[in-house]
Amino acid sequence: MRHILITGGAGFIGSHVVRLFVNKYPEDEIINLDKLTYAGNLANLKDLEGKPNYSFVKSDICDYEVMKNLFSSRKIDSVIHLAAESHVDRSITDPFSFAKTNVLGTLNLLQTAKEAWGSDFKDKLFYHISTDEVYGSLSFTDAPFTETTRYDPHSPYSASKASSDHFVRAFHDTYRLPVVISNCSNNYGPYQFPEKLIPLFINNIRHGKPLPVYGKGENIRDWLYVEDHAQAIDLIFHRGRIGETYNIGGLNEWKNIDLIKVLIKTVDRLLGRAEGTSDKLITFVTDRAGHDLRYAIDASKLTNELGWKPSLQFEEGIERTVRWYLDNQVWLDNVTSGDYQQYYQKMYGA
Ligand code: NAD
Ligand code: DAU
Repeated sequence: MRHILITGGAGFIGSHVVRLFVNKYPEDEIINLDKLTYAGNLANLKDLEGKPNYSFVKSDICDYEVMKNLFSSRKIDSVIHLAAESHVDRSITDPFSFAKTNVLGTLNLLQTAKEAWGSDFKDKLFYHISTDEVYGSLSFTDAPFTETTRYDPHSPYSASKASSDHFVRAFHDTYRLPVVISNCSNNYGPYQFPEKLIPLFINNIRHGKPLPVYGKGENIRDWLYVEDHAQAIDLIFHRGRIGETYNIGGLNEWKNIDLIKVLIKTVDRLLGRAEGTSDKLITFVTDRAGHDLRYAIDASKLTNELGWKPSLQFEEGIERTVRWYLDNQVWLDNVTSGDYQQYYQKMYGA
């Protein structure tokens, strides 16, 4: 039996990881720790309420005393660390909260894990979830990022994630803390906060609102269905080699403007509108500052070592995703209105 602390489990990817682990490993104890920032929403995990191997703790990963007590009282032996400030645009206007949570919060977790585990690292693991953005930006013709690509972050968000990755490696090299890191490309799927491209645009198309395309819409991202990311995390957690880094990606590059046209077509079709109805919503706006041109991941290490491959074709993933947001308008409305925060703040405190 393992006692697994998952941080950021009320967020987008974290909620899928928590669900997978709670359902797949009933003998393990899964503790979801989340500060419930604007991006954390326990409605993402409603189906897990009452499961005997699941519990929730509302806390900040930066709080040393809480983390220290949690490691000893709950006998934490493994950490899957997803909690972070995750939106690039917010990092441009408020870089300090990114440094605080992503850098200092990660350092605090590493330190409390090290202190709690002493020198007995048997069956212990600190798994840090990172991003492909730490590698910087590719040209249209560059080969995809590998695990040895030099770090070259450009946004305050990616700089904070790069810094946290360095701290994780430093704790392995200096103290032999058993760590593993994965760097994943853009995720999409249910429960993503509608400030990110795909859920924002699905919602806007539905409501006939403008679609703010940054620059000329030529930037490229490599999209992976979120449940495929969760499966990769499961594999790496159980079978990844200590001290190693694994890249995770969708083998699925899309120019933003082409992806947006697929979204428009899919939403219009599912809502019974004539094809092309929502094309007029496309609105080119000022580019994001420091906007990385292209991300693409070479995931062959993960495929060769652990046999992972994305399970879903993009067409199927997008269809599923659009249907989910159209079928879950109440979830979207609660998130866009902020009602979800008031509800859970009443339950757990601000
Ligand atoms: P998200 O913003 O949806 O969720 C982040 C969660 O962390 C929220 O529930 C939030 O309440 C919680 N949190 C924030 N600050 C906290 C703090 N100080 N203490 C405790 N909890 C806190 O993010 P996401 O998109 O699910 O990303 C999760 C992780 O995966 C992040 O580390 C991110 O860098 C990484 N990642 C994301 C993507 C992607 O495409 N979304 C791709 C690769 C890697
Ligand atoms: O690559 C992994 C990263 O993917 C994660 O580490 C981040 O946490 C996650 O937010 C995501 O970052 P991006 O910046 O790539 O995602 P976002 O959805 O914000 O933007 C995707 C692309 O769409 C990007 O090129 C910017 C563009 N865009 C985005 C928004 C929100 C627009 O053109 N208009 C928009 O309104």
